[in-house]
Amino acid sequence: MAGKRIGYGKVILFGEHFVVYGLPAIASAISNITVAEVEETQITDEFIPGLELIDNRPCVEGYKIKKRGEMERSFDLMFKFLKIDLQKTPLKITLSGNLKCASGIGASAALTSSVARALNEHFSFGLNDDQINEVSYEGEKGAAGTPSGIDNTCSTYGGMLTFTKNLEGFPNKIDLLEIKEPLKIVLASTGITQETKEVVADVKAEREKDPDKYVEIFEEYKRVYISGLEALKKGDINKVGKSMNKNQELLRQINVSCDEIEKIVSIALENGALGAKLTGTGRGGLVICLVPDETTQEKVTKAVSEAGFEATKTELGKVV
Ligand code: MEV
Repeated sequence: MAGKRIGYGKVILFGEHFVVYGLPAIASAISNITVAEVEETQITDEFIPGLELIDNRPCVEGYKIKKRGEMERSFDLMFKFLKIDLQKTPLKITLSGNLKCASGIGASAALTSSVARALNEHFSFGLNDDQINEVSYEGEKGAAGTPSGIDNTCSTYGGMLTFTKNLEGFPNKIDLLEIKEPLKIVLASTGITQETKEVVADVKAEREKDPDKYVEIFEEYKRVYISGLEALKKGDINKVGKSMNKNQELLRQINVSCDEIEKIVSIALENGALGAKLTGTGRGGLVICLVPDETTQEKVTKAVSEAGFEATKTELGKVV
């Protein structure tokens, strides 16, 4: 029987990179999804031996080439975890959906969650959502090295959530976050694809070189997180925006921003955005811009697009 399942895209509002070290973060799934379909096949030597992969996902230019190594590792880890022997049961996996793959949108986790669900259905493993999330996490290790688990959690469950990685192992602390009004957002793309694993490793190496700098930055981030969370709960979007800007300042300090991100942030703020920051891995990928109303959303989208960056209007915090 053909299995067909989905994984949500996501954005991180607060805490990318800090979340890897056990600090709390806030993320939201978006309604764009990746869909995976699993079937048996006779073709045994395609993407990796025993796996025929048809990848119909829309992607920014260069994404699939840059991410090929990550994807191979992700598939391999998930098959091992689920004890699937591709020599005995060669598989065809077809990926599709309306999530445009780019760094920062949780595309690798949307892939691993959707594939975990599709494999579960195809082999009738009977896994529940928590177990699907574990399989997806296993696959994410191929993409992020030592992932926090925030991306696969968003991709598997959907919704807006606070997330704290349990540094001792599972379970992580996950709480659904309900907000008063959906947040109006412009998502702008630098067009640059990054390997999460590399950027996470660079931050780790820098922290080892200069631990004192990171102690201070982590303390400041905790304050930013608390004020951002309080503001979200109260529906005080001006304060949410200010906290996002402070978060972006800390991301600059750990060297995960870049010129293109900074350019988009400046354009967004000049055109009325309340806050703007990179979301996800950084050094490229996406910038999330919080706007107060539809008029500003339109204005920011237009200004960012005129500067040559792709921009999309969306809302966060709706139950997806
Ligand atoms: C990537 O979307 C988010 C990072 O914090 C990595 C992770 O949490 O595993 C950079």
